[in-house]
Amino acid sequence: MSRPSTVILGTGSYAPERILTNGELSRMVDTSDEWIVDRSGIRERRIAGPQERVSDMAARAAQAALADARLGPGDIDLLVVATMTPDTPMPASACLIHHKLGLAPAAACFDLNAACSGFLYALDTACAMLGSGRCRQALVVGAEKVSQVVNWKDRTTCVLFGDGAGAAVIGVDERPGVGLLASRLGAWGANADLLLIRDRYIEMRGREIYRAAVRIMEEAAREILEQQGVAAHQIALVIPHQANLRIIESIARYLKLPLDRFFVNVDRYGNTSAASIPIALDEARRAGRIRPGDLTLLLAFGAGLTYGSALIRW
Ligand code: ACO
Repeated sequence: MSRPSTVILGTGSYAPERILTNGELSRMVDTSDEWIVDRSGIRERRIAGPQERVSDMAARAAQAALADARLGPGDIDLLVVATMTPDTPMPASACLIHHKLGLAPAAACFDLNAACSGFLYALDTACAMLGSGRCRQALVVGAEKVSQVVNWKDRTTCVLFGDGAGAAVIGVDERPGVGLLASRLGAWGANADLLLIRDRYIEMRGREIYRAAVRIMEEAAREILEQQGVAAHQIALVIPHQANLRIIESIARYLKLPLDRFFVNVDRYGNTSAASIPIALDEARRAGRIRPGDLTLLLAFGAGLTYGSALIRW
């Protein structure tokens, strides 16, 4: 018997008000707008206020996703939060967000950490729980306050990251062949030392991460397309993790797709880790870049080195 499809019923996102431009950064560390734009494509990023926590940003994004899906907190029986910067290690940020949203006690909730691939890990987990009949409707959130783990004196990392949150409401649909068609997750654990948080701050071997990111994301895209018998030109929109415009351009060349088939907002947010894909997904939907029947490919890589890909039919 075929399982029901798992579909995205609504999306939402939230970005803190404070905009930190490259110009301001060049007064904080030895860098320039020209260097940052040329090497990464980033022009500005959002920075959460001192009192603004991951659970606050996540709750705002989740509320927007619920409104978009025309559902209320009582309709949700699972909340999965992808983050590497939780408010506290314990309790899980998911529990704090559960309270802020007013979810029912019977709604399960937990955090998950797969760094920048976190949203795709969370999406796959939630869809599996829905597909098994364990849950009916889920909220999947990616939220990060990366600014709290960035060393603002290290020019090699501080120019790259930003804060924010994105969310999606997932439900089941009896129609076959819609929603999440396929999802692949994995990790190159042997490369975990290329990108890590040590002594409070992010440390990164940038050039090696760059090379690994291009190779891993190209491979992830090729695998899922081959598995599903889909040609790259059939993809209406690719939503890649927003770490660096040059990485996105490499993947576009590899897939032989024009760059306008890729959703890009790294210029405005920098790398928001687990929030990157759900913010981009929400902005793409709201900008009318996703139409019924379209195929969308989501692609992620992150510390670990984790990776993920997902193919969605709308
Ligand atoms: N401003 C000016 N100069 C800089 C800066 C800066 N902000 N940062 C580094 N430089 C200098 C370096 O010191 C180096 O100088 P040198 O040649 O005198 O030694 C020079 O610029 C070149 O540095 P590279 O690191 O070789 O520059 P590269 O072209 O590789 O670009 C970058 C660096 C943007 C970090 C790139 O490697 C990259 O994007 N890597 C991937 C990063 C990434 O995606 N990380 C997130 C992973 S996802 C997650 O899970 C969090």
